[in-house]
Amino acid sequence: MGLRSDIRTVKAKDPAAKSTIGILLTHNGMHAVWIYRLSRLFWKIKLGIVAKIISNLNRFLTGVDIHPGARIGKNFMIDHGSGTVIGETAVIGNNVLIYHQVTLGGTGNDKSSRRHPSVCDNVMIAAGAKVLGGIHIGTNAKIGANAVVLKDVPANATAVGIPARIIFNGDVNNENCSLIKKAQT
Ligand SMILES: CC(C)(COP(=O)(O)OP(=O)(O)OC[C@H]1O[C@@H](n2cnc3c(N)ncnc32)[C@H](O)[C@@H]1OP(=O)(O)O)[C@@H](O)C(=O)NCCC(=O)NCCS
Repeated sequence: MGLRSDIRTVKAKDPAAKSTIGILLTHNGMHAVWIYRLSRLFWKIKLGIVAKIISNLNRFLTGVDIHPGARIGKNFMIDHGSGTVIGETAVIGNNVLIYHQVTLGGTGNDKSSRRHPSVCDNVMIAAGAKVLGGIHIGTNAKIGANAVVLKDVPANATAVGIPARIIFNGDVNNENCSLIKKAQT
C-alpha cells in the first residue's frame, strides 16, 4: 500500500489512465482512497470526530463517501468515483475494483455491528450497483451494473438485476479470500 502500488493498480485496472503524472493529478478515485487512509488513521486512534471531518472533506473533494470505520485491503481502486458510498462496517479484501454510484450499504433495518457487506479479493462491482446488508461477496465475483444485491454471492459467480440473480455460477469451493484467512488467524 503505497504511492507506487496505487499508481500500478490504476494503470492495471483503468484503460483510460495512461501517464503517471496524469494519474497523480487527476485520478479522483485514487485521491479518495488516500484521503480515506488519512481518516482511517484518526479513526484507529479514537479521534472519530477528526476522522469524520476528513471523510466529509473527501466527499466534498472527490464525491466519494467512505466511512473511516470501513476496512479496505491492498490495491483497491474506485473508477470515476462520484457517488460511491462505503459504510462503516464494510470490509473489503485485496484487488477490489468498484465504479461510480456503487453503494456498500446497510438495508436500513439492521443496526448491528455487521450491517454492511464483506467483499472478498478480486471482486468487481459495476457502476450503480447497490450491495446491501451484512452479506458476503465471494472471491472473483462480478456484480453487474445497477444490480441490487441482497444475498450472498458465491466465489467466481456473476450477479445481475434487481434483486440480483446469479447468471454465472463459478466454483463455489474455490474461495481463497484474504478476509476469511484473517478471520481464521
Ligand atoms: C455484469 C457484467 C460484468 C457481465 O458481463 P458478462 O459476463 O460478459 O455477461 P454478458 O454480457 O454475457 O451477459 C449475460 C447475461 O446477463 C445479462 N446482463 C449482463 N449485465 C447485466 C446487467 N448489468 N443488468 C442486467 N442484466 C445484465 C445480459 O443481458 C445477458 O442476458 P441473456 O443471457 O438473457 O442475454 C457486465 O454486464 C456489466 O454489468 N458490466 C458493467 C461494467 C461497468 O460498470 N462499466 C462502467 C465503466 S465506466
